[in-house]
Amino acid sequence: MDNFHELLLNRRSIRKYTDEKVDPEDVKLILEAALTAPSSKSGRSWQFVVVEDSEMLDHLSRCKPNYATSIAKAPLAVVVTADITKSEAWIEDASVAAAFMQLQAADLGLGSCWVEVRDRYGEDGEPAEDYVRQALGIPDEFGVLCIITIGHKDEQRRPIDPAKLQWEKVHIGKWRNEQ
Ligand SMILES: Cc1cc2nc3c(=O)[nH]c(=O)nc-3n(C[C@H](O)[C@H](O)[C@H](O)COP(=O)(O)O)c2cc1C
Repeated sequence: MDNFHELLLNRRSIRKYTDEKVDPEDVKLILEAALTAPSSKSGRSWQFVVVEDSEMLDHLSRCKPNYATSIAKAPLAVVVTADITKSEAWIEDASVAAAFMQLQAADLGLGSCWVEVRDRYGEDGEPAEDYVRQALGIPDEFGVLCIITIGHKDEQRRPIDPAKLQWEKVHIGKWRNEQ
């Protein structure tokens, strides 16, 4: 997309994907976007696990009971982790990288969705982070923030309507309580 603002308005969470694989060149660009992300003290505390195996995607989709099914429907997921011993800002580092990947995916015309893992739990109370760490052999010192699902869109979502943006949440000069 030529216009960055248009890209922002058109990016919506996509949870249904066609069976088409994501082109390896596009996968590379998406990971490159993550690796360009700014990080606290330039610590780059993040590491990423790229998953394309459908059995593993299905397994990961069971990390929590709700809002994770898009993982099983996606041809590609990137598990976003960061070393909690390296940066007290690991959540922020990982969040920025995840958002960059979503924007790069949108620019490539692909759909994506953020599936939260941190502080989420399975039906049996197991932390979703432990479930994902165990499934993929991720070391204990790595927090698992989220899984970004990516693929060719199999659903249409309306772009964000700029007229509906919540400008009342923006305070100019100082905080104002009036709505
Ligand atoms: C921190 C965060 C956690 C999210 N967790 C989930 C999730 O677990 N499952 C899911 O399907 N979507 C999840 N989403 C996507 C949101 O539901 C989505 O961004 C929101 O509904 C706004 O819709 P939009 O992205 O289409 O504008 C998450 C998004 C963020 C930023």
